[in-house]
Parts: sequence; structure tokens; C-alpha cells
Amino acid sequence: MVRGSMELVGKIALVTGAARGLGRAIALALAREGCDVVVSDLGAPAQEGVAYTLSGTEDLEATAAAVGACGRRALAVVADVTKAADVERMVGSAVSAMGGLDIVVANAGIIAAAPVAAMDEAVWDRIFAVNVRGVFLCARAAIPHLIARGGGRIVNVASVAGKTGRAGLSAYCASKAAVISFTQSLAEELGPAGVAVNALCPGFIKTAMWTDVLTPMLAAMTGTAAEAAFDDFIARTTFTKREQTPEEIAAAAVFLCRAESITGTTLTVAGGGEVH
Ligand SMILES: NC(=O)c1ccc[n+]([C@@H]2O[C@H](COP(=O)([O-])OP(=O)(O)OC[C@H]3O[C@@H](n4cnc5c(N)ncnc54)[C@H](O)[C@@H]3O)[C@@H](O)[C@H]2O)c1
Repeated sequence: MVRGSMELVGKIALVTGAARGLGRAIALALAREGCDVVVSDLGAPAQEGVAYTLSGTEDLEATAAAVGACGRRALAVVADVTKAADVERMVGSAVSAMGGLDIVVANAGIIAAAPVAAMDEAVWDRIFAVNVRGVFLCARAAIPHLIARGGGRIVNVASVAGKTGRAGLSAYCASKAAVISFTQSLAEELGPAGVAVNALCPGFIKTAMWTDVLTPMLAAMTGTAAEAAFDDFIARTTFTKREQTPEEIAAAAVFLCRAESITGTTLTVAGGGEVH
């Protein structure tokens, strides 16, 4: 172990929204670092207020199998992070199956694009339910278990969208700003108990959020083909002139899980696309 960093071998991690995308990459990166990983997701591709397809149970089982293939224990739990009973059951299953809990990565999130003047209340509420209430419920359920182990880590997946509001994405941006603020409050509350709490702000990664929602929105705004709209956006927005990968985001999550004395902050992984 590097002095001054948390040893990850043998730690027990829980990752929400882990069936695909960034959550799957984070679960696998933690498994490669030696964590046993509880992976959780909705298990219901169709959701009211969500205009694109979410993950099914097969996706979640595939993540669990990939964690197992890393030689670590894996458990798949279907849970909707907006429901307190689901989240309590998810955390309870994790603790009883694995013997405790050291790391929570609250990654589940959804997006919708609409100008404020045309924003449906149900869509607004659903975004806040998943992106903000879900993060709160996961933390609340996990806190006693993290403290019981003498400390731990919470990584809340926010976004560059939480740093700067953007037209057409008000609900999503506001929800991610709330995650950043919530992270700061929670970090102060849990600091004395040895639990570090940080927000991770990914930039621009071609998961379903981009391919199904953001790229079509950009293409419509610019009147160009989807791929050209995305490439042009990346060229204009980032210093590095390229999109980020799920593995780069996962590496940052691992860093936050190891780090000592880093709490209440945000780590932005956006190739310079957001510098605050
Ligand atoms: N892709 C990007 O460029 C990007 C950038 C910044 C932040 N993020 C954030 O990263 C996180 C992961 O997103 P992604 O890009 O991998 O998208 P994704 O859609 O591929 O993954 C999100 C996962 O969350 C799950 N989910 C949705 N609602 C849920 C609920 N109520 N309960 C449990 N699980 C639920 C989905 O089923 C899906 O598996 C999100 O919080 C997102 O806001 C993504």
C-alpha cells in the first residue's frame, strides 16, 4: 500500500447505475483494484419521464459476471434509487452478502433535454428524483455501515453540467449542481467519522446519454449530422480535442476512493472542457 492512501484490496464497494456506461466501468475498475463489488441498477429499460432506453437486468448481470471474472466477489441487486425501500434493501443485501460496506459510488443518473418554457413537470421531477434524491437515499442508507467499518468513501457522480448551466438542460444541470452542494454538506458531516465524500464531474463520454439525447439535441440545434455535431462540439469545447472514455472516468473514481485528505471537493475529468 502507498503510504497515505486507502488500501482497496478486500474493500467492499457498491456502485449504482452499474449495468452499463460509466457505472459498469467504475465497478470493473474497482474490481481490478481488488474490491468486491455490489452492482445495482433499475432493471427496467422503460421509465415514465425518460425518453431513452435505460438498462435491463441482463446488462446488470453482465456487469456482475465481469466483476466475477476479475476474481472478486460480485452481487447484482435490482433497485430504483428513487425509492427509499429499494435503497435500504440494496444496502442491506450488500452488507449481509459481503459482510460490510466501505465504498459507495452513487452513479445512477438520467437526462432530458427541453427548454424551460416547454419543460414538463413530471420530467423535471423524475430528473431530480433520480439524480438528487437517489444520491441522498444511497448516502443515508450507507452511512451507518461505513461508520461501523471505521470510515470509507462516498463518490457522487455529478457532471460538468453541475458547474455551468446550459440551455436546454436546465433540470439536468440544476440536479448536478445540487449533487455538488449535497456532497459538500455530507463531507463536513462525515469528516470526523473518517468518511471522505467527493463529487466526480465527468465531461463528455459517448454513453446512452450522449448518443440517445445530447447528440441528437446538438444535431438539431446546429442542423448537422449527429456524428459531425458531436465531433465539432468536442473540438470547440475541450482543450484536448477529444471525448473522454469510461475508463478515464473510472480511474478518477478509483483515485477518489484511495485518496486521503481529499473530501468535499469535485474532480472534473473533461479534457479542459470545464475548468472550474
Ligand atoms: N456520459 C457522459 O458524458 C456523462 C457526463 C457527465 C456525467 N455523467 C453522469 O454519469 C452517470 C452515468 O451515466 P452514463 O453516461 O453511464 O449513462 P447511462 O445511461 O449509460 O447509465 C446510467 C445508468 O443509470 C441507471 N438508472 C437510471 N435511473 C435509475 C434509477 N432510478 N435507479 C437505478 N438506476 C438507474 C440506468 O439504467 C443506466 O444503467 C450519470 O449520473 C450521468 O449523469 C455522464
